[in-house]
Amino acid sequence: MKNIISVIFFILISIAAIAQRKSNAQKVDSVLILMTLEEKIGQLNQYNDDWKATGPVTIDNKKADQIRLGQVGSLLNTLGTERTRSWQNIAMQSRLKIPLLFGQDVVHGFKTTFPIPLAEAASWDLDAMQLSARIAATEASASGIHWTFAPMVDIARDPRWGRVMEGAGEDPYLGSKIAYARVKGFQGTQLGDVNAVMACAKHFAAYGAAIGGRDYNSVDMSDRLLWEVYLPPFKAALDAGAATFMNSFNDLNGVPATGNKILQRDILKGKWGFTGFVVSDWGSIGEMINHGNVKNDYEAAWSAITAGSDMDMESRCYKNNLAQLVKDKKITVSLIDDAVRRILLKKFELGLFDDPFRFCNAEREQREINNPEHAKVAREIAAKSIVLLKNTNSLLPLSKQLKTIAFIGPLVKALKQNKGFWDIEVPGVDSNFIVSQWEGLQNKVGANTQLLYAKGCDIEGDDQSGFDEALEVAKQSEVVILSIGERRDMSGEAKSRSNINIPGVQEELLKALLATGKPVVVLINSGRPLVFNYTADHAPAILYTWWLGSEAGNAIADVLFGDVNPSAKLPISFPVSVGQIPIYYSHFNTGRPATNDSSHNYNSSYNDLSIFPKYAFGFGLSYTSFVYSNLQLNKKKMKKNEQIEASVTITNTGKADGEDIVQLYIRDEVGSIARPVKELKDFRKIKLNAGETKTIRFIITKEKLSFYAPHSVNNQQLQWVAEPGDFELMIGASAEDIKLRARFELIK
Ligand code: NOJ
Repeated sequence: MKNIISVIFFILISIAAIAQRKSNAQKVDSVLILMTLEEKIGQLNQYNDDWKATGPVTIDNKKADQIRLGQVGSLLNTLGTERTRSWQNIAMQSRLKIPLLFGQDVVHGFKTTFPIPLAEAASWDLDAMQLSARIAATEASASGIHWTFAPMVDIARDPRWGRVMEGAGEDPYLGSKIAYARVKGFQGTQLGDVNAVMACAKHFAAYGAAIGGRDYNSVDMSDRLLWEVYLPPFKAALDAGAATFMNSFNDLNGVPATGNKILQRDILKGKWGFTGFVVSDWGSIGEMINHGNVKNDYEAAWSAITAGSDMDMESRCYKNNLAQLVKDKKITVSLIDDAVRRILLKKFELGLFDDPFRFCNAEREQREINNPEHAKVAREIAAKSIVLLKNTNSLLPLSKQLKTIAFIGPLVKALKQNKGFWDIEVPGVDSNFIVSQWEGLQNKVGANTQLLYAKGCDIEGDDQSGFDEALEVAKQSEVVILSIGERRDMSGEAKSRSNINIPGVQEELLKALLATGKPVVVLINSGRPLVFNYTADHAPAILYTWWLGSEAGNAIADVLFGDVNPSAKLPISFPVSVGQIPIYYSHFNTGRPATNDSSHNYNSSYNDLSIFPKYAFGFGLSYTSFVYSNLQLNKKKMKKNEQIEASVTITNTGKADGEDIVQLYIRDEVGSIARPVKELKDFRKIKLNAGETKTIRFIITKEKLSFYAPHSVNNQQLQWVAEPGDFELMIGASAEDIKLRARFELIK
């Protein structure tokens, strides 16, 4: 009965949504019919506000005049109710009073800053990620923003690429789950609610595979890789209802994504049925000239609009060329109408035609950006994102009874660094609300614990003059905590690096501190997987703290002292050396698989380097220990319309309560094309009190066994198939730490 009621309820809601969509579509048409060609083209034109630039600026002092003439559809980088209101007022002076859309890179929080997306991904906690996006949307929408250029759902397997910090790591399964959660979080219950912002799945597509990890670089990949690894998170974002997509700077096999019809018109808007709109990346329409695919702005505009890019971010190619293209009969007005419709539809759905100022309530803005609940959540999520990489002799958690602690390093007292790249400086808010690592520790320890500080060295440079002071305070202490890493702006857009070692003399400082014989806990702050072999091999305890956001200090202290038991696991492989990049766990076996021995006997190894990562995908320790046992499959053979249930028992065998992330990998042993050695197909994050045992269940369906295979040798078109044969099922604590294995067969 309950089921029937919920089905009826669902049907009613869906009918209501369809009716609403229909009436919005009718409203769109009623506006469209009034528009001149120039006004239509205006809707496709997006400018940067001059408050802040996130790309190369084009000086243009006539933006207000153009808005008044209906020549601008959207602005980006406009912050705050006051400023958005003033621009919207100008739009209301235009002939048709079509409201502006305000877009912003709200990537990991607005005023309340959450961990950078890669760090949050390490929590594998989908609810947490949805919640942080929800809070970000609540604050951003209260500050006049309608649209975030997030989530970035690019799979990234090259830590040299600065934007690795902005995504969910290397894996398409985990990446898809996270993409879905983040879109849901940003968009809330529905667009039109005053606390919902439009999400934007970006960068469509394959931007994360930029050759050599160099930002904006070309991408060359097979269709199979594209469909199997790079597209799934976009599909997941779409399934979650993402209102918009952004295309990308890269070319894909020689065709710039911005002018790529197959990607945008055929796959996204065709096969996948996307009804929202696509925005170009900053200037990417004009950049097709540099790519060498078009001769000039005119051809660039033609290429992009034909391919399905609806809105032009900052290149001005549409504004300057679309009318001429229509006049020259190179494109039809209906092509422009389609793009305008998509944009107007979102403006209607957001409720902007009813009230263009509904996101400009200054009182709500103050209330939301100062909501103390948001800081609490940020602290919890930050603690969930910290990865315990090493803990020799259970050095951590630290005792709250310690008499003296030395807190050393260039990042201890930093404020803004903790926010990482893509933070937002909300007008009128200074940095004091950010909890530094020093303040977090002070908040945690009691009056009986003395905290000593020394900077030791800078993040970069070779100056060791601060070492003596650092050694002095270390000698006076029972434990040393050393906070080292990158600067926050060493990862992010245009922050690719060929050297991803811990910069400067920071590891030298560690060496000197270790020589004192004091136990040293190292905190590594970073936006990417760094290479830190000396630290990994010599420091007794390491916490990878990434950039954790405005509550970083409190969250780090929570984990250091065991108020939170770390549970995060790496969403990306950490290399031993840049020479291993790209390195990812779901590689093929090859004809001569690499082995662990050093003989390198004509197999797929390096002669001078291990092929294994320093820390594997899915790796992370806890203050307790978990034992996996009793893997059972309810049957060993399944037909395609059947499913197998796998159960496994997890026991917390340590003394602390804790959470574990149990990972399920599958290997298709023989395929018509080679299959990876393993692929993540499910996971569970479970909480177990000390001594507690739980049995968890995974369901294996045909879907989890399917992949993209060419139809035949003569027809390379891909089809999504599950091929009958043997499969290995693995339950692991990481991609390398497989605890239990079982086999089953898919039969015809
Ligand atoms: C360029 C970046 O690639 C994109 O992700 C971002 O949204 C825009 N700039 C706007 O800042």
